[in-house]
Amino acid sequence: MSLQSALFRSSPVARPKKALTIDNINPHLLEADYAVRGKLAIRAEELRDRLKAGDTSLPFTEVINSNIGNPQQLDQRPITFFRQVLSLVQYPDLMLSPYADKIFPPDAIARATGLLEEIGSLGAYSHSQGVPCIRQSVANFIAERDGFPADPKDIYLVGGASSGVSNLLTTICNGPETGVMIPVPQYPLYSATLAIVDATPVPYYLNEADRWSTDPGHIRQAILGALAKGVKVKAVVVINPCNPTGSSLSRQDIKDILALAAEHGILVVADEVYQTNVYGSEFHSFKKVLREAQRDHPGVFDDVELASLHSTSKGMVGECGQRGGYVELIGINDDVMEQFYKLVSISLCPAVSGQVLTEVMVNPPREGDPSYPLYRQEYDHIYSTLKTRALALYEAFQQMDGVSCQPPMGAMYLFPTITLPAKAIKKAQDLGTAPDQFYCMQLLEATGICVIPGSGFGQKPGEYHFRTTFLAPGDDHIQRMIRFHNGFVAQYS
Ligand SMILES: Cc1ncc(COP(=O)(O)O)c(C=O)c1O
Repeated sequence: MSLQSALFRSSPVARPKKALTIDNINPHLLEADYAVRGKLAIRAEELRDRLKAGDTSLPFTEVINSNIGNPQQLDQRPITFFRQVLSLVQYPDLMLSPYADKIFPPDAIARATGLLEEIGSLGAYSHSQGVPCIRQSVANFIAERDGFPADPKDIYLVGGASSGVSNLLTTICNGPETGVMIPVPQYPLYSATLAIVDATPVPYYLNEADRWSTDPGHIRQAILGALAKGVKVKAVVVINPCNPTGSSLSRQDIKDILALAAEHGILVVADEVYQTNVYGSEFHSFKKVLREAQRDHPGVFDDVELASLHSTSKGMVGECGQRGGYVELIGINDDVMEQFYKLVSISLCPAVSGQVLTEVMVNPPREGDPSYPLYRQEYDHIYSTLKTRALALYEAFQQMDGVSCQPPMGAMYLFPTITLPAKAIKKAQDLGTAPDQFYCMQLLEATGICVIPGSGFGQKPGEYHFRTTFLAPGDDHIQRMIRFHNGFVAQYS
């Protein structure tokens, strides 16, 4: 019998049809949860498709995606100078057009020309760590922000902060005995990535009553508690300003965390992607507070290791889809840095267009440049719009029975507590769903507003929250939310 006929002969033994089944793929992936794009987001997409197809049976006419910090999906416009430079770098022949100087200001043309001299073509792989002159711009930005020098060799450009986090956790985690402290509530990138790399998340609670601050005594207890269970805490993740809580840490909070890191020999992962989204408070970078502590307390903070992340996705840039950002690594041994470099080089390089966007984010037009007035105007407009929307939503929560919320201080989110009526909790339990998930699903079905339940981020047992962005324009959806909430409470009371 030929090989072919042997292969296609009908066999009494059932051959497996697929190489891949849910039971044989990476089990750690099955464990990872990412609520931001979970059930609610999927249902929101279904509802949007129905509206698009002309379904008029729904009690709303638009779906509002308040589930994800994706500013340009709503009405945030890109900053003109950024897109001008990006367009010219993407298609340099535009500069040869007789209309070029009518469309593009001279500083955009000069910036694109300078970048092209360094990069060559946007279509070529760059250095795995990122284009050297862009890393120099990032170092200049950090030095100007903090008043302490930064070294381009410590900077890695990344395809969004998410890929920086993934590479970092892949490098440092060494099996389930590795503990990584994550805040509760947290942005689920962290718990999901820890599940994938098979390390142990060690939760620490943020103090809601005190504007979601960190409590060093509690963090210390969590480190020791983990150790007692055979888990050595190797890193602490701090998100500042915070997703999902909308808080912003004080300088003292940051110094206390650095002191714990010094005491216990723990890497601090400072997720600072919202560093320009601060409202009524000041952003203190971990790097700056660390350098001050090293200056003021010789010998105490010398060995602290820090990874600080920034992104082009947030702030007034809001270019989530372009995938730019950087991670600065401080105080880490050279041989570990070599391994980190090897890991990033396996993916060759972050998208060069995202690197260009990082360049313009950290090195925007300066006063006196032709593009400065428009840049300033656009930047300030986005900032004041975000602040106004944050306050409007916060005010709305004051009108909702059983809802309490810390005032907006940073990031793009509010994370109110909801006191759910006992009958609503019972109903959710009967349906086999978490009570806050039930609430958020009812809100979506009634109003088209998609928010994420607190259970997707972590919360204290018996507490319920939801996270909403304050990016959506207008007041109409806020009124719908108030009406829904008060109706929901009346129905289940
Ligand atoms: C705290 C935090 N870190 C990281 C990210 C990921 O950002 P990026 O788009 O840069 O990957 C997000 C996205 O929402 C975030 O909220």
